[in-house]
Amino acid sequence: MNDLFNIQDKVIAITGAAGVLAGGTAKYLQEQGAYVVYLDLFQDKVDAVVAEAKAISEKCCGFACDVLSQSALEAVHDQIIETCGRVDVLINGAGGNMPGATIGPEQDVFDLKIEDYSKVLDLNLKGTLMPTMAFAKTFKQQGSGVVINFSSMSAPQALTRVLGYSNAKAGIDNFTRWMATEMALKYGDKIRVNAIAPGFFISNQNRALLTIEAGSYTERGQQVISKTPFRRFGEQEEVYGTIHYLISNAASFVSGVVVPVDGAFSAFCGV
Ligand SMILES: NC(=O)c1ccc[n+]([C@@H]2O[C@H](COP(=O)([O-])OP(=O)(O)OC[C@H]3O[C@@H](n4cnc5c(N)ncnc54)[C@H](O)[C@@H]3O)[C@@H](O)[C@H]2O)c1
Repeated sequence: MNDLFNIQDKVIAITGAAGVLAGGTAKYLQEQGAYVVYLDLFQDKVDAVVAEAKAISEKCCGFACDVLSQSALEAVHDQIIETCGRVDVLINGAGGNMPGATIGPEQDVFDLKIEDYSKVLDLNLKGTLMPTMAFAKTFKQQGSGVVINFSSMSAPQALTRVLGYSNAKAGIDNFTRWMATEMALKYGDKIRVNAIAPGFFISNQNRALLTIEAGSYTERGQQVISKTPFRRFGEQEEVYGTIHYLISNAASFVSGVVVPVDGAFSAFCGV
């Protein structure tokens, strides 16, 4: 394999690793020879995903860990260091939305549920900040490490209805640039922080919102396709290569960027 892209034996911790995009990415990275630590909220989900991962290779383990619990994050981090001796990469994959933080088709902004809005901000934004704080202490000591965050196409432009999630993901874009700067200025050029911004992928959360049945779209699904020059939704495999690149030495001079993986959605004004 070209050494630039070699991720053999890199120790990669990934939160939300029982999820669709994050879990698929984790398994892909393990297939490329990395040692992958699967982290997710509940033990049964972790056990199920690690059982699948063991079929790829023995280079994996998993822990239940709430990304909003500092003590749980520190305990898991310490266990990884004890087991593997180091950690090379943190991927912040945990995230999600809640109905009360969005504005329904018959609602307006005054119907926003502030409690749900706060929960969505916490899960996505603090749930990215807190694992990064727990793992970056080791990156500082090692003098090396990579963080990959998950943003969204709802961050740079207003996406109707999706308020809390968009605000949180916009915060992640800013945090990515801030943390990249902080790490490089204080600890040198071997600690890099980047994000990917997936466009529209069909997931369990948005399937009913975007599709009626395979190949046919709701009105909102059709609006998304009209604003996507590729005229289709993404396939989950299409995020793997960008993450692989950002982790690898091929991206050694790349930090503080948010890479769209979106079929040119963000490049297109819609007309
Ligand atoms: N799927 C998409 O179309 C899409 C598009 C843009 C951005 N994203 C973002 O990409 C990331 C990965 O998406 P996905 O499709 O894998 O999401 P997903 O919904 O399939 O999985 C999210 C995972 O996070 C876990 N989780 C929730 N709360 C947690 C907590 N407190 N602590 C630890 N884990 C927790 C869940 O158990 C779940 O397994 C998310 O940040 C998501 O917002 C997804």
